[in-house]
Amino acid sequence: MKPTKDDVERIDREGLYKDYESWPEQAEQAMKIVVDLKEREVDKIVYCGMGGSGCAGDIIQDLSFNKQDIPPIFVVKGYHLPNFVDSSTLVLAVSYSGETEETLTALEDALKRNCIVVGLSSGGRLEKICVENGIKHVKLGKALTPRTALPSILYSTLIILSKLGYELVSAYELNNAIDTLRRVRSSIGVLNNLEMNEAKQIAYHLHDGYPIIYGTQEYRGVLIRFKNSLNENAKMHALVEVLPEACHNDIEAWYPSALNTRALFILEERDVKLKKRFDTLMELVEKAGSKYHIIYTKEDTLFKKLMSTLYLLEYTTLYLAVLRGIPPAPTPNITLLKNRIRLHQQA
Ligand code: PA5
Repeated sequence: MKPTKDDVERIDREGLYKDYESWPEQAEQAMKIVVDLKEREVDKIVYCGMGGSGCAGDIIQDLSFNKQDIPPIFVVKGYHLPNFVDSSTLVLAVSYSGETEETLTALEDALKRNCIVVGLSSGGRLEKICVENGIKHVKLGKALTPRTALPSILYSTLIILSKLGYELVSAYELNNAIDTLRRVRSSIGVLNNLEMNEAKQIAYHLHDGYPIIYGTQEYRGVLIRFKNSLNENAKMHALVEVLPEACHNDIEAWYPSALNTRALFILEERDVKLKKRFDTLMELVEKAGSKYHIIYTKEDTLFKKLMSTLYLLEYTTLYLAVLRGIPPAPTPNITLLKNRIRLHQQA
């Protein structure tokens, strides 16, 4: 089946694809947020968030890797803050719904430790706790799911960090990346057919095997995000591997009797040092009887590269869901678990 617009609309009953279509506008909206924050001196930053709300933290951490004058950034995906968190720590508590148990627990902990806290959510208990405690809260833009609200979460967080004196991406670059998203959308949208649409081509490549995705360190957050959306939208298991580390372990699993795998490589043309590693991996993938697809990232700044790759891969997960005949928006297993936790808390 070619995922035509009709196919997408038939399977994606909730219209998740419309959220993806609006990513450039979502980012544009987030650029307009008014946050009345003054510069603050902090010596570490902790980003707390789960699933779709946590991914922006991974990407922000990757963006900070080569920056100077930015305190170390840690990402917490769980209930507990690390021991080193104290009153000179900036804690960003991010939950799209504002109802996620782990993030709310970490937020309460940050308040007890007198941290400098900023909350981000579309509402929910997180907003309530912020209001009750006089903490700055930023309301996130509307989306059907937390994962499709990524531009809103990521842009809002980057703007908050800039206001506090920690600029990871300039306003100029943030705006440029919105143009990049628009350009990418014009080639991977639901109306673009398979021959010209890389997202649909990657979906075809991955749809009948177990995806293993390789990229370099700066794409770590993008890879995690892709895995999560493969899980949640396409209801598929997936594995992500970062190079060069994968060349010291994962590489051995390319064995003639490898599982029914499909490899995907995210490559930068300037990756001269890593080229031999990628080339060898590709050779081993073929020898193991598996297939691979390469994504070449060509943008001129890291932020644009990350945003364009994220967008391409999110659309891929949407098309994969359609190819598999599974509605991408509902996440019944996550809902089941969240309901059980809620009932347990009420008991
Ligand atoms: O994308 C999703 O729906 C999930 O990964 C959620 O983001 C996750 O369960 C956490 O919920 P929230 O983002 O509302 O805190």
